[in-house]
Amino acid sequence: MFNSIREDIASVFDRDPAARSTWEVLTCYPGFHALRIHRVANWLWHRNLRWLGRLVSHIGRFLTGIEIHPGATIGRRFFIDHGMGVVIGETAEIGDDVTLYHGVTLGGTSWNKGKRHPTLRNRVVIGAGAKVLGPIIVGEGAKIGSNAVVVKDVPPGASAVGIPARFILDEQDKSREEKAAKLGFSAYAVTAKAADDPLAKALQGLLDHSMEQDHRLERLQQDIEALKGRAEDDRAVTERFAPGRLRAAGDK
Ligand SMILES: CC(C)(COP(=O)(O)OP(=O)(O)OC[C@H]1O[C@@H](n2cnc3c(N)ncnc32)[C@H](O)[C@@H]1OP(=O)(O)O)[C@@H](O)C(=O)NCCC(=O)NCCS
Repeated sequence: MFNSIREDIASVFDRDPAARSTWEVLTCYPGFHALRIHRVANWLWHRNLRWLGRLVSHIGRFLTGIEIHPGATIGRRFFIDHGMGVVIGETAEIGDDVTLYHGVTLGGTSWNKGKRHPTLRNRVVIGAGAKVLGPIIVGEGAKIGSNAVVVKDVPPGASAVGIPARFILDEQDKSREEKAAKLGFSAYAVTAKAADDPLAKALQGLLDHSMEQDHRLERLQQDIEALKGRAEDDRAVTERFAPGRLRAAGDK
């Protein structure tokens, strides 16, 4: 247990530059308190002490302004910064090294009893005020912008912003878009969302191959230009030391 507390404190230092001392984290970080209280509530919940679990969770909410259902599954080094107004539903699943800011909701969109809350994979960051709704999956390392409303799966590593959330293209996707535009079509829906679509993957492969060929051609062109320059220098030197010119210089 002490190891897990130490780990939670270290994750506050890693992710909040404002944290100054362990004592400060122990006494002034509602996110840290909420997590520790949730560990107790969750332990009770899984021992069929459901009402007691709910009561402990409710006390945690009263003290911290963070509402975590005791049934929610939370991984290691979870950090909620500021915390006020965070709501985490019963069937939410949270991986390791996840960060949430204040006002985040991991909520449901139906009253069905089964899985109805999101699953966050490892290293997900969710900005202040964002709402992540339904039994969707937020892929590993994805970022959700502040105040976004996310109702569809987010691919690993993607950033999602706005209402409803749209994905921001990464650098590789941007290059693919530019290449596709040069070839006369739009790669929208081919980039970023291609993970499960073989046709989109094939197109990505072709775009990448075409970009690689462009780079090679560019490099070849540069080499040819450099060789041309060198050949001209060589010719100038040869002309300066040509036997005719040397003889003429000798005659003078
Ligand atoms: C979503 C986020 C992670 C994006 O970071 P990023 O990948 O570096 O993206 P950029 O800043 O390059 O922005 C890319 C585009 O998304 C837009 N954007 C960024 N964050 C946005 C948001 N929250 N809502 C709407 N649009 C947003 C930018 O304006 C930009 O648009 P453009 O391409 O049309 O110019 C970040 O902006 C964010 O919201 N982080 C949460 C921070 C937070 O809640 N802090 C609380 C501290 S108390």
